Amino acid sequence: MKRVNPVNQSSDSEFRRPYESRLDRPDRLKLPEFKRNERLKHVLMAGQFDRELIEYLCNLADALRTLHRTKEGADFLGSLLTHKRAMLYFTQASTRTYLSFVAACQILGLRWAEVRDPQVSSEAKGESPFDSIRMFSSYFDLIIMRTREPRLAECCSYMMNDLEAESRRHVPVVNAGSGADEHPTQALLDIYTIRRAFEFRKTTDSADRNRLSELRRKHPGLKRGIDGKTYGFVGDLARGRTVRSLVQLLALHEHVRFVFVSADHALLRMNREALAALTEAGAQVREVESFESPIDGRPAIEGLDALYVTRIQREHDKPGESDPYAGVELDQYRLSLDLVQRLPEHAIVLHPFPRDSRANELPPEVDGDSRAYYFRQARNGMWIRAALIAYLFDVDARIMTRMQRELTGRHDYNESVL
Ligand code: NCD
Repeated sequence: MKRVNPVNQSSDSEFRRPYESRLDRPDRLKLPEFKRNERLKHVLMAGQFDRELIEYLCNLADALRTLHRTKEGADFLGSLLTHKRAMLYFTQASTRTYLSFVAACQILGLRWAEVRDPQVSSEAKGESPFDSIRMFSSYFDLIIMRTREPRLAECCSYMMNDLEAESRRHVPVVNAGSGADEHPTQALLDIYTIRRAFEFRKTTDSADRNRLSELRRKHPGLKRGIDGKTYGFVGDLARGRTVRSLVQLLALHEHVRFVFVSADHALLRMNREALAALTEAGAQVREVESFESPIDGRPAIEGLDALYVTRIQREHDKPGESDPYAGVELDQYRLSLDLVQRLPEHAIVLHPFPRDSRANELPPEVDGDSRAYYFRQARNGMWIRAALIAYLFDVDARIMTRMQRELTGRHDYNESVL
């Protein structure tokens, strides 16, 4: 069987032609089209989120996980969207994003169906993705899509908007990963994880003794929250779509510093435009070639509050070409338990997963360290995606009201273990 290379396939940009002029606009001109009455209508790129909306969705995710602890709460959530259906169109490999969206639908009582293999859909007979998506919108109320083609989700949202303008049936589109382009819902779960981790709370916290006060003995300046922290990124910073989306959300915060650790190689280092956008947003940006490179007089690794590890995206390599990383010492960019233990005690290690067991950029020996946050990160994906779906279907206020009622009625939740 002939091996189909995703990059070759996505380089066939023919499908984008009808939408080209709209795709080529700066984001600020597009964003109003993805909204309705000041609420998001489609979710396509990280640039659609402001700080207020991020905080609201994180609070909503917290409310969902708290309510879901009791049968009454779970039944209430499970009744909210029983009248709606979602289509999961996932033709690119996915485990976590796909399953966490399925679980998120189940939490809200939303029924769902899927297409995962285009070979068993009419695309194998030559149907265009636009016909397929329009058909899905005839049967379903939401389309969640992951494809190899960069910006296909964005094109589909324009198609839906055009249908809306003609008073035809149209539904929201959620981008669950588009080519090497953007992954906005991963960015949401990443920021939600960072927010929870930097609350520095522990189940045993009390009024006079808590985790933050303990940590402050060693790090007197340490504060709660995402602001003022140093975020390190390592791995495939050029083609990893998760990094590109997450840095945009982090840059909305105050006094954020970025440290990008990668070899000086076009396929690995962060894209120049993305770096310029971060500096413009007021963040401090450093690029270093090693965890040992000095920053403020100490090795970079020792000054990070969070380290986001990504896998080398080999699926984008061109087939038949020689190893694009020949001459790069990739070993330098692998984590080890020793390196992780040199991060500050309060720091966290994140990875969007899957980790590559062959390349071993994040060896399992790190899993037992208290800084390893990646399994919690994956679970957070289910809650924040449920929050996003609830918001898109406008049932978020009902969840918040119910949560408020619960909070005034009882106070025995132990939120840090949820
Ligand atoms: C990521 C992706 O698909 O971009 N995975 C995910 O959605 N959790 C990261 C990756 O594949 O490396």
